[in-house]
Amino acid sequence: MSIELLSTTRAIRRRLDLSRPVERQDLLECLDIAIQAPSGSNRQPWRFVIVQDGATKQQIAEYYRKGFAANLSGRTPRPDQLRDLDSGQYLAEHLAEVPALVLVCSLGRLPEPVSALRLASFYGSIFPAVWNFMLALRDRGLGSCLTTAHLAYEREVAELLGIPFDEVTQVAMVPVAHLLPGADRPGRRAPVAEVTRWDRWA
Ligand SMILES: Cc1cc2nc3c(=O)[nH]c(=O)nc-3n(C[C@H](O)[C@H](O)[C@H](O)COP(=O)(O)O)c2cc1C
Repeated sequence: MSIELLSTTRAIRRRLDLSRPVERQDLLECLDIAIQAPSGSNRQPWRFVIVQDGATKQQIAEYYRKGFAANLSGRTPRPDQLRDLDSGQYLAEHLAEVPALVLVCSLGRLPEPVSALRLASFYGSIFPAVWNFMLALRDRGLGSCLTTAHLAYEREVAELLGIPFDEVTQVAMVPVAHLLPGADRPGRRAPVAEVTRWDRWA
């Protein structure tokens, strides 16, 4: 894997090609790389539901839009967040047109209250697979974006897709499409020296 791939795999929203289908075989091959990711005790809790059916995507998109809007309400974005918000809005409006929506699920449901250890183990056992998936997609010219906004309606989406809510937790939805040409630059990040401490926090 190249440094270039690691540093240029971005949240793709506007550069998703909404007119070109995505092959099932490509999705499966990328998921095959996704599941090489680490998980606590090698539990491999991942399950994936790939939605390509138009009517089902429409329904998910409606929940997503509501979740996205609720997440924004009452927040004042920083100036540097405005571009992301704009492209976030674009994705919310076009989600149903994205060729494949990959719902990433993890077996089990967290108790309440939950310890930091359990929480870290639960989510830490699934997001590495999500990121592997996104890297594998990008490597073959497919674009994606890690999203969570639909989770405000996790129960409704579970019902829609026949996911057993009490036994399976949805953690993310990854819209996938072919990547339209555009800039492949590293993302905007705070400098590493600013976010790193040596030996002690302070
Ligand atoms: C846990 C998590 C949840 C996210 N949820 C959403 C989402 O619901 N919708 C969305 O458009 N982007 C979502 N994102 C994408 C982030 O906005 C994106 O990763 C971040 O802005 C960095 O983008 P860049 O790599 O292109 O610079 C999420 C990312 C993470 C890690």
